[in-house]
Amino acid sequence: MGKTFNIGVIPGDGIGPEVITQALRVLDVCQELSDVSFDLHMFDLGAERYLRTGDILPAESLDQLKTVDAILLGAVGDPRVKPGILERELLLRLRFELNLYVNLRPIQLFEGVQSPLAGKSSAEIDFVVCREGTEGLYAGRGRSEQVETRNELALEESVNTYQAVERLLRFAFELSMTRDKHLTLIHKTNVLTFAGSLWMRVFEELAREFPDVSTHYMHVDAASMFFVTRPEEFDVIATDNLFGDILTDLGAAISGGIGLAASGNINPTRLTPSMFEPIHGSAPDIKGTQRANPIAAILSVKMMFEHLGLHDLSELITRSVAKDIKQNFAAARSTSQIADGIIHHMRGSSHEN
Ligand code: IPM
Ligand code: MG
Repeated sequence: MGKTFNIGVIPGDGIGPEVITQALRVLDVCQELSDVSFDLHMFDLGAERYLRTGDILPAESLDQLKTVDAILLGAVGDPRVKPGILERELLLRLRFELNLYVNLRPIQLFEGVQSPLAGKSSAEIDFVVCREGTEGLYAGRGRSEQVETRNELALEESVNTYQAVERLLRFAFELSMTRDKHLTLIHKTNVLTFAGSLWMRVFEELAREFPDVSTHYMHVDAASMFFVTRPEEFDVIATDNLFGDILTDLGAAISGGIGLAASGNINPTRLTPSMFEPIHGSAPDIKGTQRANPIAAILSVKMMFEHLGLHDLSELITRSVAKDIKQNFAAARSTSQIADGIIHHMRGSSHEN
C-alpha cells in the first residue's frame, strides 16, 4: 500500500473552482497511475461564504487546514466584496498564519509557447523567483490620518526582520546550489535604505557561507528592464514581498501569460502545510465561460507533488503539460479540453514507462 496524503482544497472565487476542478482530475489520474492516494478535504472559503455568513477564515477551518499535508488553492477575490477584505483576511492570513515564508514562483517558457519577447527561446527564459511571503509592505502595518480631508495622510510600513530575510535568502542560496549557482538579489537599496541595508548585509553574510554561488544584485527598476531585454541573465532570484509580486506578473507575461504560471507558498521547515496556487487571480470577467486556462492550477499540483516528495508524479505532470503545450498551445480550447489533452499524455507516457 502506498502512502495517503491529506490535501486541503480551497477552490475559492471566480475561475478558481473551474481550474481546481481540472487540477483535481489530474490529481485523480495520478492516484490511478501510482500507489499513492489522496484524501481531499474541501474548504468552502471565499466570497460566497463571506457574503452568505460573514465568515472569512473561521478558527476551526484554520485549525483543520493546519493538519493537512498540503493545500491547493484556486483564486480569491470577487467584485461584490470590497478590495482587500478577502485578499488580506483569507489569502494573506493563510500565508502569515502558516508561516509560508517562501513564495516560490518558477518562470519558464515552455517549448511551443510564443513569448512576447521576440526571439527568446525556452532556454533563455527559465528562472525561479523566491519572493518573501510573510512581511514587507504586506505586513498590514499602516494607518490613515484625517481621512477624506485635504490633509489626508496614509502610511504603509514595510516590515523587514533579520530572521525573515535570513530564512528567505538561505532558501534561495540552497535552491541556487541545485540549479546554476547563480543568485540575484533584487531590491531598491538606493532608496529603501533601511530595509535595503538589512537585505544586503544578510545577502553578503550568506554569500560567504555559499562560496560556490555567484551572487548578483539589481535594483528592481533595472531588473524589470532586464526581465524583458535579457531574461537569460537570471537563474534564481530573491526579493521582497511586493517586488516579488510585481516581478512575477511580469515573469508570467514573458513566459506565455498568467494562465500558465504556478506558485508554491512554502514553509521549508514543514512544521505547517505549504499551499500551492496559480499566480493568476479570480478573473470574474470570464467566470463560468470555460475560458480559463487550467495549466497554472495543474502546474501548482505538480509543485505540490515536488514538495511532498512525489517526484515521479511531478515529472509525469511536467512532461505531459510540456507535450500538450507543444502540440496544442495555439488551439482554441475550453478549460476542460486543455485538461483532457494533458490527461491523454499522462496516460500515454505512463504506458511508455
Ligand atoms: C499574488 C496576488 C496576491 C498578492 C493578491 C491577490 C493579494 O497578486 O499572489 O501574487 O499580492 O500576493
Ligand atoms: Mg500578484
